Amino acid sequence: MAKNTQSLYEKYIIGNYGVAPLTLVRGKGRRVWDDKGKRYLDFCSGIAVNSLGVAHPAWVKSVSAQAKLLAHASNLFRNEPQAALAKTFVDMMGVAGAKMFFCNSGTEANEALIKLARLYGMKKAGGKEGKIFKIVCAENAFHGRTFGSMAATPQKKIQHGFAPQLKGFSFGKFNDLKSFEKLVDKDTAAVLVEPVQGESGVTPATAEFLKGLRKLCDKKKILFMLDEIQCGIARSGTLLACQQSGIVPDAVSLAKGLGGGFPIGAIWVRAPYTDLLQPGMHGTTFGGNPLACAAGLAVLETIKAEDLLANVKDISKHLIRKLTAVKKEFPALVKEVRGLGLMIGIGLAKETAPVIAALRAQGLLVAGAGNHTIRFLPALNVTKAECDEAICMLKKALDSLSQ
Ligand SMILES: Cc1ncc(COP(=O)(O)O)c(C=O)c1O
Repeated sequence: MAKNTQSLYEKYIIGNYGVAPLTLVRGKGRRVWDDKGKRYLDFCSGIAVNSLGVAHPAWVKSVSAQAKLLAHASNLFRNEPQAALAKTFVDMMGVAGAKMFFCNSGTEANEALIKLARLYGMKKAGGKEGKIFKIVCAENAFHGRTFGSMAATPQKKIQHGFAPQLKGFSFGKFNDLKSFEKLVDKDTAAVLVEPVQGESGVTPATAEFLKGLRKLCDKKKILFMLDEIQCGIARSGTLLACQQSGIVPDAVSLAKGLGGGFPIGAIWVRAPYTDLLQPGMHGTTFGGNPLACAAGLAVLETIKAEDLLANVKDISKHLIRKLTAVKKEFPALVKEVRGLGLMIGIGLAKETAPVIAALRAQGLLVAGAGNHTIRFLPALNVTKAECDEAICMLKKALDSLSQ
């Protein structure tokens, strides 16, 4: 492999990412190594993607076996892994009659939800298009970078340069039911929110908010759609984060952790909305590709086999306790610890970039969220010892920044 990756990036890769000055070459479990041989503890997990860590044996076995058999088939034909993954997820959700559609990324999963809402609106309007089409989303949401998802993401830094935005989106205050109630009108087809807002700073929705939205959607006969792209697939300590509020949404978007490192997106839709998408209305060449679905199956089977839900809950308590102690120790730097399961935000009194760099220097990789939050997103099978190591590096980094 080329050793001059940095110069090749500068010459050949479009500069739309603020990429860190290191090149990752391999990993094992919760560890990754750069091209200079430096080892890192990975609490970024490819932004909540490597849910089983790197190169988990069950994941490698499933993906390698499928690669030898059939990597791609297209949706002109059935393939076994797609059927098996859909059944496994639907069974784990335990809602009879629900179905899946597979795609390749988070934003694409949200595009499918947005199209589902439009089809629902058309049906509700007696077959008339463009009458009932609005979607109420939340302030500070992040749903992705394509035109539908971007329009649902009311952030200047995401939308700037791409006007005009797709019509029909309005934004209520997150965790403020009344502001959503005010926005739902006769033209509204759906509500779409993240049960834990991720990119804007790791803010969990309250159970009252999600329950209230469920009631509102039932009352107004509109779809209740959730974006669980970051918080779903066991990251919160339950298969979906919304389950902790005791509600069942009408449709959910998934991606990230579902593939455990292989690109995949999906929507889960409950009956009777499973028939809205009819043949020819939506599609993608790669969606439900056998290789991606084999990766997804390995993730779901391993979550069950290794009881990772229990691990997430247990480790989350440990980590939050330790981080709360760090907050007490560094009150001028650490303002808040918040989150759910292994999606934990550490609210800082200063910009994240120097903290992330100081952590990297210590050997810990984390992700930022907004301007003042860093995210701990370790693999679902992370150990207490690894968390203690991360805490130790965090303290050293904060110490170095306090001087
Ligand atoms: C909640 C949420 N929705 C959607 C997306 C977009 O997913 P992708 O980057 O795979 O398009 C993300 C990505 O960070 C996300 O966190």
